[in-house]
Amino acid sequence: MINSKQPILVFGATGRQGGSVAKALLKAGWPVRALVLDSTKAASLQLRNAGVEILQGSFDETGMIRSAMKDAYGVFSVQPANLAVEDEVRHGISIADIAAETGIKHFVYSSGASVGDELTGVPRFDAKPRIEAHVRDLAMTTTIIRPMIFMEMLVRPGFGLDEGRLVSLIRPDHSIQLTAVEDIGRFVTAVLADKPRFGGRTIKVASDRLTGRELEVAFSEVAGRSITYERFPNGVLAANADLAHMAKSLEDGPLSERVDLQVMREINPDLLTFRSWLAGNGRRSLDEALRTSA
Ligand SMILES: NC(=O)c1ccc[n+]([C@@H]2O[C@H](COP(=O)([O-])OP(=O)(O)OC[C@H]3O[C@@H](n4cnc5c(N)ncnc54)[C@H](OP(=O)(O)O)[C@@H]3O)[C@@H](O)[C@H]2O)c1
Repeated sequence: MINSKQPILVFGATGRQGGSVAKALLKAGWPVRALVLDSTKAASLQLRNAGVEILQGSFDETGMIRSAMKDAYGVFSVQPANLAVEDEVRHGISIADIAAETGIKHFVYSSGASVGDELTGVPRFDAKPRIEAHVRDLAMTTTIIRPMIFMEMLVRPGFGLDEGRLVSLIRPDHSIQLTAVEDIGRFVTAVLADKPRFGGRTIKVASDRLTGRELEVAFSEVAGRSITYERFPNGVLAANADLAHMAKSLEDGPLSERVDLQVMREINPDLLTFRSWLAGNGRRSLDEALRTSA
């Protein structure tokens, strides 16, 4: 099913999701082209050495993006989290518009799992649904993926691990669905290999689901010391609108929706469990978080 002649253009390839997608596509035999901000940066050189065709340019350089898409089969589009809301929307829409104009066969937009069917009225949380709505309306085959919270988020320094605590957003007996960034690349590769199956769909992507108590056990086992799980105190949530929004969404909003992990494993047979991720690629971040105080 893979069209080995026409490349996939990957945005954000020096970052987490784009890097995962570029790597998985190369492994599956696709030619990969990446638009990077700085072609001399170590991450860009690594991509080049791995066989990625590197073009330098930013989201603002629409002429460059247009020529980068000219003979491509597909596009993977993701915008970084640190963009201003209107910039995220502008770039997300402009990349999709150029893809439709240049005849891209399959466009994959990576949104976020906290996106629900309704707008929230909070500009920051409504950027992705606005892009999604625009992408869906284009005359082009599109697939929207909504990755659940990254496993990587749980091993950031400063969330208590150095003191033997894991502090996060769910109540201890509630579950959280997590995505290993590595799985996003494998998932997107499966999507691009099967346009009839995945075209036109919006799909939540997850790797595993654990309760706070199960996180406690997994962390303690892999760290070799006791790690107890606790939820952010109510006062912290009340003082931080973004954290409160996520906590609420995990409780009864879009982030609480259960992704069928059997379906995920059927699409991506190498799907990671939290434990396998923590003992593998997550291990270095875990060790760093265990040593680093807030
Ligand atoms: N955190 C979570 O749990 C979670 C879950 C689901 C979805 N998300 C969403 O994931 C997205 C971020 O993805 P990520 O984590 O893969 O991002 P990331 O690791 O921060 O990577 C961002 C990429 O975009 C590139 N970039 C930045 N500004 C650019 C510009 N002006 N023009 C062209 N390229 C530019 C960066 O290049 P450089 O390397 O040169 O800077 C980098 O390659 C956000 O929208 C976030 O909301 C996050």
